[in-house]
Amino acid sequence: MTQSSLREQALVIGGRGGIGKAVAKHWCEDPRFSAVWEVSRHAPKDDSKFGRRRSLTTDHSEEDIGEVCREVLAESSRLSRVVISLGTLHGVDYGPEKSLDALRQAAMEEVYRVNCVLPMLWLSALAPGLRKNPDCRIAVMSARVGSINDNGLGGWYSYRSAKAALNMGLKSASIELARRAKGVKLIAFHPGTVDTALSEPFQRSVPEGKLFTADFVAERLTGVLDEHKADGQISYLDWAGKSIPW
Ligand SMILES: NC(=O)c1ccc[n+]([C@@H]2O[C@H](COP(=O)([O-])OP(=O)(O)OC[C@H]3O[C@@H](n4cnc5c(N)ncnc54)[C@H](OP(=O)(O)O)[C@@H]3O)[C@@H](O)[C@H]2O)c1
Repeated sequence: MTQSSLREQALVIGGRGGIGKAVAKHWCEDPRFSAVWEVSRHAPKDDSKFGRRRSLTTDHSEEDIGEVCREVLAESSRLSRVVISLGTLHGVDYGPEKSLDALRQAAMEEVYRVNCVLPMLWLSALAPGLRKNPDCRIAVMSARVGSINDNGLGGWYSYRSAKAALNMGLKSASIELARRAKGVKLIAFHPGTVDTALSEPFQRSVPEGKLFTADFVAERLTGVLDEHKADGQISYLDWAGKSIPW
């Protein structure tokens, strides 16, 4: 192993969610990384368990996002992997809408905020520190239901449109980064249906063998990132590495 590979670091935003936590754990066991930053609203209970883990808490305010990114970028000589794994589909008083008459402003705003606004704000705060980075691969958790072409069933208005808006934001970011941060690869990632709190109320309709563990997805995400160097393009990929139509 070379000295430069030993200096690689990784960052997980949303590190206490089902998928984010599994990715952070997977990367903590990956000898490439000298440190794995894990950012969440919640402090971990078992910080001592993974020696290379660096846990930071955030309230996702613009000010705090800026501070966390400055801290990570100042201490990471070489940030080579980032996953932004923020999302919500249901909460105490909202869930995926089946029909137009179920739309509520407060719920729509919250779903847009967590699935689209926050991931884009994190990307915005990270981008200036990545301009000279020779190879940084960033996966942002999207979803297949954010594909306009693939929408054959309708419904899920807020979540679908928040992910579609995220996809468009990432597409614009990829065009800008191709000019300003040529070493950055952006991937809008669909993890499949994963056994986490987000999918829990909807798991009964998932065909047998199609409900993935978060550990499986962490492994797949790592493989997909490893296979995609910066090429000036964004990729919209699923867990198998297959392209999804926009
Ligand atoms: N599970 C699936 O089947 C599935 C399918 C397709 C796409 N996805 C996407 O994968 C990503 C991760 O989801 P998951 O399955 O791991 O779900 P999860 O276990 O519910 O985790 C959700 C993540 O979003 C963050 N989050 C939730 N509400 C938030 C809020 N109000 N403010 C700030 N952050 C908030 C959480 O942050 P903290 O770490 O601070 O708790 C957590 O990291 C999401 O983008 C989701 O849309 C999941």
